[in-house]
Amino acid sequence: MSIIDSLKWRAAIKQFDPTKKVSEGDIEKLIEAANLAATSGGLQPFKLLVIKDEELKQKLQAVSYNQAPVGDSSHLFVFAIQTDPGINLVDAYLNRVVEVRGVEMSSLEGYRQSLNGYIGSLDEASRLTWATKQAYISLGTLLSAAADLKIDATPMEGFDTAQYQEMLGLKGQRLVPVVITAVGYRSNEDVYSAMPKVRKKRNDFVVEINTSLQPS
Ligand SMILES: Cc1cc2nc3c(=O)[nH]c(=O)nc-3n(C[C@H](O)[C@H](O)[C@H](O)COP(=O)(O)O)c2cc1C
Repeated sequence: MSIIDSLKWRAAIKQFDPTKKVSEGDIEKLIEAANLAATSGGLQPFKLLVIKDEELKQKLQAVSYNQAPVGDSSHLFVFAIQTDPGINLVDAYLNRVVEVRGVEMSSLEGYRQSLNGYIGSLDEASRLTWATKQAYISLGTLLSAAADLKIDATPMEGFDTAQYQEMLGLKGQRLVPVVITAVGYRSNEDVYSAMPKVRKKRNDFVVEINTSLQPS
């Protein structure tokens, strides 16, 4: 199936089959896809929490506006941004560059300064917004990979952040959940996935710029 056909197949399923579990091998592929997402500066300022415990999923559903996909999913993925100061994120990334590419830290000094210059210029609120954007790129990459693997994934923002932090023991860890995804397989009774997909008409979506703008 082409990637376009896969994207047409995918849907934010409302009714999962709770008896169908995604294999650990496929869960690893989804994790890898999320980890392979592009991020600003390569800094990946977020973590991916993977939950399969049935009791915990049920408890989380109760603080997610009782949305059934949370409890009925095979696995629940939680994207949590790191609220660390920018300098910590840059240090962690550069240490990893040294490890993976075998280069000297001293050779990365210019890059360190430019990353710190950018991240350091953001106030805390802007830095958290920036981190959230990066988590959403990873979410999008995961959704596309899931579609390619014919695994259902329902993204959700409808959950209580503070309750998630409490239940997942994230307080004190500088981690704030920003978006979640229920992963599993659709029930035969899911009516949502049978409905035609609603998107903007192509010409309402695309703005084709064919000439360079004249200076005014
Ligand atoms: C960031 C994000 C948050 C969403 N939050 C919810 C949610 O809390 N509950 C829900 O049922 N669907 C949620 N959705 C699903 C959207 O409603 C759905 O993706 C959209 O209607 C398009 O439909 P489709 O994904 O089935 O093509 C969310 C989607 C995104 C991308």
